[in-house]
Amino acid sequence: MDAQNSIHKNLEQLVTKHFSTDYQKPIAQHTQDAFDAVKQQVSTSLAGDHPLIFDSCCGTAMSTGIIAQQNSHALVVGIDRSAARLSKEYNKSMPKNVLLVQAECSDFWSLAVAEGWKLDKHFILYPNPYPKSKHLKRRWHGHPAFPLLFSLGGSLILRSNWSVYVEEFCMALEFGLKSRPVEKLNQKPIMKVVEPKTPLTLFEKKYQESGQSLYQCEFRL
Ligand SMILES: C[S@@+](CC[C@H](N)C(=O)[O-])C[C@H]1O[C@@H](n2cnc3c(N)ncnc32)[C@H](O)[C@@H]1O
Repeated sequence: MDAQNSIHKNLEQLVTKHFSTDYQKPIAQHTQDAFDAVKQQVSTSLAGDHPLIFDSCCGTAMSTGIIAQQNSHALVVGIDRSAARLSKEYNKSMPKNVLLVQAECSDFWSLAVAEGWKLDKHFILYPNPYPKSKHLKRRWHGHPAFPLLFSLGGSLILRSNWSVYVEEFCMALEFGLKSRPVEKLNQKPIMKVVEPKTPLTLFEKKYQESGQSLYQCEFRL
């Protein structure tokens, strides 16, 4: 099937199915090890009343550093599966309140939920779009791990240069709220166009320089 240019017709059915089953994928050993390596520090920070922020799919972690500077009281965990992107080549100096973790996000989220961690903010900036219709299940809102975002909580901020991704993500949050009314809040996910003064990420910079529109979904879980 070809590129998709409107909301996927199976979105509601897929999201509802994921909310009716527990996420049970076995955890990859490398992510378990990465989680174990930071677990103590994160738990101590939470116990000391420091807010916890995730920057999932952080890539080169440019955003992780900026978010940490803007939230100096918080511990900011940047998560990406690519060792090359997380390498020192990009991250020569990071604020002290940053932890960078090479891990599979879905597994890391699952372990964080099991540990009872609650987020203050959760950034997912420019995730891989998987624009072909047949790849809906690879997008975060079509992934079986999507309900974990609800359990982690916090203010969720997702950005993409593909409006359909952000529209679908907002709709999927609403479908999730139907399935988990106990977590329902008196508000809806908001989609808006953003024009950041200074780019948060390298992808954001690239898209801005080429004049593309940038979309954001914002929701407090
Ligand atoms: C398009 S890049 C965006 C990176 C960065 N947020 C930015 O805007 O510059 C997507 C990133 O997501 C990471 N990624 C994709 N799927 C992932 C997963 N399941 N777990 C962890 N990282 C993932 C990739 O390694 C890549 O660095």
